Amino acid sequence: MSNKIPQNRITWNSQIGFLLAAVGSAVGLGNIWRFSYMTFKFGGGAFLVPYFVALIVAGIPLVILEYGLGHRELGASPLSFSRVRPNWEWAGWWMPISAMFGIMLYYSVVIGYCLIYLFLSINLTWGSDTQTFFFDSLLHISDSPLNLGGIQLSVASATLFVWTICWIICYKEVNRGIERACKIFIPLLFILTLILVGWGITLPGAFHGIKAYLIPDWGKLRDFQVWTAAFGQIFFTLSLGFGIMITYASYLPRRTNIYSNALLTSWIDCLFSFIAGFAVFSVIGFMAFEKGLPITEVIKGGPQLAFVVYPEAINNLPFLRSIFGICFFSVLFLAGISSGISLIEAFSCALRDKFGWDRKKVVSVICLLGFLGSLIFTTRGGLHIIDIVDHFITHYALILGGIIECYIVGWLLKAKLLRKHVNNAMGSSKLKVKPWWDVCIRYITPAALIIILLQSLIQELKTPYEGYPLEAIILFGVDWLIIVLIVSVVFTFYPWKSELLHRKHLPEEDHLLV
Ligand code: PHE
Repeated sequence: MSNKIPQNRITWNSQIGFLLAAVGSAVGLGNIWRFSYMTFKFGGGAFLVPYFVALIVAGIPLVILEYGLGHRELGASPLSFSRVRPNWEWAGWWMPISAMFGIMLYYSVVIGYCLIYLFLSINLTWGSDTQTFFFDSLLHISDSPLNLGGIQLSVASATLFVWTICWIICYKEVNRGIERACKIFIPLLFILTLILVGWGITLPGAFHGIKAYLIPDWGKLRDFQVWTAAFGQIFFTLSLGFGIMITYASYLPRRTNIYSNALLTSWIDCLFSFIAGFAVFSVIGFMAFEKGLPITEVIKGGPQLAFVVYPEAINNLPFLRSIFGICFFSVLFLAGISSGISLIEAFSCALRDKFGWDRKKVVSVICLLGFLGSLIFTTRGGLHIIDIVDHFITHYALILGGIIECYIVGWLLKAKLLRKHVNNAMGSSKLKVKPWWDVCIRYITPAALIIILLQSLIQELKTPYEGYPLEAIILFGVDWLIIVLIVSVVFTFYPWKSELLHRKHLPEEDHLLV
């Protein structure tokens, strides 16, 4: 692959390596328990309408934007934004810092739960009352997020293990660490998922589960909340608004087909969610059938789906229960790790761009700090805090990131310029990004995101999320958003080495466009 990149910036070894890494970031825990439960709750097959509208209106245009920007500016989000407009650098920091200290701190703890359950599957040690086991025996959960209680050693040890694996992968350059890991993880993840689907749909009662998952309830589409949820899910699932795809694309060689990579990443991710839903709902249908209960009585959302409902269903399987459990929790584990490493890479690349520090040192320090930060989520109040932080990230931080990106590229850089760059980079390929993309990035995508953001805010002011005490919401949600903003501004004050910001630094074909 061509390597006309300044400062000897490392590139992916192959296009497929990049694609697998990007799909690895996109396909995560969210695809497995978030998507299928949302579909069920928000109108079954009818939910696919807002979901695909969100994919086309916001998802795909923003993946093209993030890939194009990272590829053009050759840096993580702070450097990329600074090259467009130096006074927007703070927003470039806000995104990977929220990703690292918002998502990754709790994401690593949840991957830790998956690891614990992977081992518990061997002897089905969770017993017959899976709810009591998860909440009381494993987490010793407290009654409120404000009541932290002590750190739970088993959860903290599993979390340490997760951070160690991420550290080992991110310690090496992307083409030897992340790329190699994803070349193994992603095919394995897809094969295991297909095994689960094949197995699940042959179980008695599976059909009822799938019907509950997909039978459309068109009336739900009149509820605005369903549309908000669809946009939030598209953002979360495509890892948008955090600068991750900007960072990954900055390691692409100069000649590259950004458009087809963007389409492939988006569709593979959505298709994976859709297919994984069959694995989840066939097993839930089976469990409802065994117990003689309606699906609505047995289903639960989020972590409870994986750690309460699923173990119970596994208990009821006719044979090879442990193998089924091992397959399911390995899928979650692999999906989680391949997303986790992208969160670490986005922040580590941002720091290396700005301060010129050595990758090994940066990754070691942030993994250590990350692990220490995760400990709060391993306390007895941890699961409540996960719930609050997750809510604030998916409803605000990420959508805000998307709006800012649209403004910076659509209005400050000018969408047309980036589109030309993307089309130039594709060389003679017939597939070209058309002017509709400019219209999306300048008007349609930001307008949709602003409406969704306002709607969430109005909802929040009416009823505090999930009835948590207001102090807890302010402490873990709002305060956290403000602290990230302050840290971002502090990083911005440190000056860049001037030649880094200078566009002379960039490869030839870019000069033609400036
Ligand atoms: N896309 C991942 C998922 O669906 C989560 C994620 C979000 C990962 C943001 C990285 C950044 O679970």
